[in-house]
Amino acid sequence: MRDRTIWWEEDGVGLIEQTLLPEEYREVVCSDVPRLVQAIQRLEVRGAPALGVAGAYGVALACKNALEGSESAFSASVNEAASTLRSARPTAVNLAWGVDRVLSAIQPVSDPVDAAERALTMAESIADEDEATCRRIGSHGAPLLPDDCTVLTHCNAGALACAAWGTALGVIRSAAEEGKNIRVISCETRPLLQGSRLTAWELSRDGIPVTTIIDSEAAYLMQRGEIDCVIVGADRICTDGVFNKIGTYMHAVSASYHQIPFYVAAPRSTFDPEHRMADIIVEERGREEVASLFGRTTVPDAVPVVNYAFDGTPFSLIAAIITEDGLIREPFHHPWLMP
Ligand code: MRU
Repeated sequence: MRDRTIWWEEDGVGLIEQTLLPEEYREVVCSDVPRLVQAIQRLEVRGAPALGVAGAYGVALACKNALEGSESAFSASVNEAASTLRSARPTAVNLAWGVDRVLSAIQPVSDPVDAAERALTMAESIADEDEATCRRIGSHGAPLLPDDCTVLTHCNAGALACAAWGTALGVIRSAAEEGKNIRVISCETRPLLQGSRLTAWELSRDGIPVTTIIDSEAAYLMQRGEIDCVIVGADRICTDGVFNKIGTYMHAVSASYHQIPFYVAAPRSTFDPEHRMADIIVEERGREEVASLFGRTTVPDAVPVVNYAFDGTPFSLIAAIITEDGLIREPFHHPWLMP
């Protein structure tokens, strides 16, 4: 695997095609914005910080391709591409954040060639920053983990979900690097299995002991005393709670019942101080993700399916949010959470 999940190359934006893992490791190049938007929607690239980097590189790609058109059409073409990118997935706030950061770096556009260069420089620095940020999250979070412990995680908040290193898995990696004896329980994460396909793949390659369970097994392992803490990533941190992959809330409720600390690891770019959880559009995905398995139909055709991709966990269930600047705890009054 490369040292980055997503990168820039001459022909466009390169990324690891995550839907094929763990069976196949394949790199793809998106040479225009519609292909990048497709990659985002198909979850070829996914995870909030990686989506921020994808949005940033996407605007740089739109600028590069707009240089082929007339100078007067440059701004309109880039703005249109930016709004398509921004709305490719609605819940992870990092996507719009990455797009908007690059867009503001090129304003005002007087010379398209110069704007395209500035866009790429900004996108590259967002990718570099992401890796450095994850490492800082890792060092702030590692002390929370006991020297010998079993950590439960959900979905994939690892290197594949960021430019590199990871947020929740970044904390685990940093603790392991410090010599702590960490075992990970990776919930499979129905329906797209980011936990069993991606988290298990990443950690086993790192030599960090990892075991996969079905999502509904988590509470029973907690009851048996087999889980010491839970760490997950986040897609959007509102003023009253945290959105993350569907199933996260269920783990937070179970952890609270069993008095197990529940941590969220996320960078500042995931904070949304303008909204409460009730304001947010939660992505609903297609029926086919739930209604078929191994090429077979698993739900009768006449029966509807509800497939929310994320859920919201109130702050009352969270022991701490681990950020690049340190921990945010009760009562969650923090400048990043103030409008
Ligand atoms: O639908 P996905 O795979 O993009 O969902 C990803 C998650 O929910 C992650 O936990 C979250 O983005 C944090 S990634 C550091």
